[in-house]
Amino acid sequence: MIQSKLPNVGTTIFAVMSGLAEENGAINLSQGFPDFNPSEKLISMINRYMERGFNQYSPPTGHPKFRQAISQKTENDYGVYCDPEKEITVTSGATEALFCAITAFVNPGDEVIIFEPAYDSYVPVIQLSGGKAVPIELSFPDYKIDWDEVESKVSSKTRMVIINNPHNPTGAILEEDDLKKLEELAEKHDLLVISDEVYEHIVFDGKKHQSVLLHEGLRKRSMFIASLGKTFHATGWKVGYCIAPEEISKEFRKVHQFDTFCTHTPSQLGYADFIQDRKEYLDLHTYYEKRRNKFLSLIKGSRFEVQAAGGTYFQLLSYQNISNEGDLGYAKKLTIENGIASIPISVFYSSGRDENVLRFCFAKKDETLERAAEILCQI
Ligand SMILES: Cc1ncc(COP(=O)(O)O)c(C=O)c1O
Repeated sequence: MIQSKLPNVGTTIFAVMSGLAEENGAINLSQGFPDFNPSEKLISMINRYMERGFNQYSPPTGHPKFRQAISQKTENDYGVYCDPEKEITVTSGATEALFCAITAFVNPGDEVIIFEPAYDSYVPVIQLSGGKAVPIELSFPDYKIDWDEVESKVSSKTRMVIINNPHNPTGAILEEDDLKKLEELAEKHDLLVISDEVYEHIVFDGKKHQSVLLHEGLRKRSMFIASLGKTFHATGWKVGYCIAPEEISKEFRKVHQFDTFCTHTPSQLGYADFIQDRKEYLDLHTYYEKRRNKFLSLIKGSRFEVQAAGGTYFQLLSYQNISNEGDLGYAKKLTIENGIASIPISVFYSSGRDENVLRFCFAKKDETLERAAEILCQI
């Protein structure tokens, strides 16, 4: 009676490791969410909209006031105008935007280029659409893209490329030259691009975030995907959006309207007011850079090897000097025996490539990072 459409998909590693952390009372640096609250001001703004009766469906494309605010934000951040009526669609988190973006355009037999280690929500959706993910491994240990290899993997069936910048799980960032190479390739082979930029405001060391929106040739063929949950410390509210040219947005919206219809109305209205004040997010990179630096200085004496993250709120640590056990087993052992949960990287490779590297989320309070570092230094 039941024929699974996703026979190889189990429970995501994020739920597995968070569950194991909970069971064992371990410090949870596995899943990517802060252990502190969003701004009080934002909470009360959203709350006020609920109290004033804004509790029913919004238009499926998003509340006009929120789309207008997103358009203004995009112009301020990237100097690019996006038509709020035709080019911006509000979604229930970036996850829903990714689902719509893939489902709207991938037909049976189409190939989609992804980069591994890859955030785990892309491949199952490609498969649900009957498409085939074509994985390309990032170089190790600096996690860069070999664009010649990408060119060699493009076939007559290639429909789309998915990039994720800044990159989860590695914390690597793309440079301007990467975007130029992607632009050239996408134009030459007439490819669509999904650009998962949920960590757009978390880029470190004085570097500028390289959005697809900044490159005219990419802007014309890309779906830019953002998550307000990541930017405003509210991952559980699930608010995101997609910016794409009108013709692409039209197809995207066809899927979106039957997927969730619309996103939580009071959150949209609260955010519409809140994001107008750029102070609320422009310093986010400084905030997280300090947390990264704190975490790195706290674990300086440990036996873990480090290459500082260029963006996101994740830090990879290599334990190759400590053990050669597989990373999934080692991550579980650290959770159960040492009381600290992380994410093994091999699960994000279709090949299962295992470099003895774990991902730690540093979007945590000082005391959480201090307790975590104490444990890591004892290992
Ligand atoms: C790379 C990447 N894309 C998308 C998402 C999902 O974002 P959201 O919580 O807004 O659905 C995440 C969340 O961890 C992520 O890391």
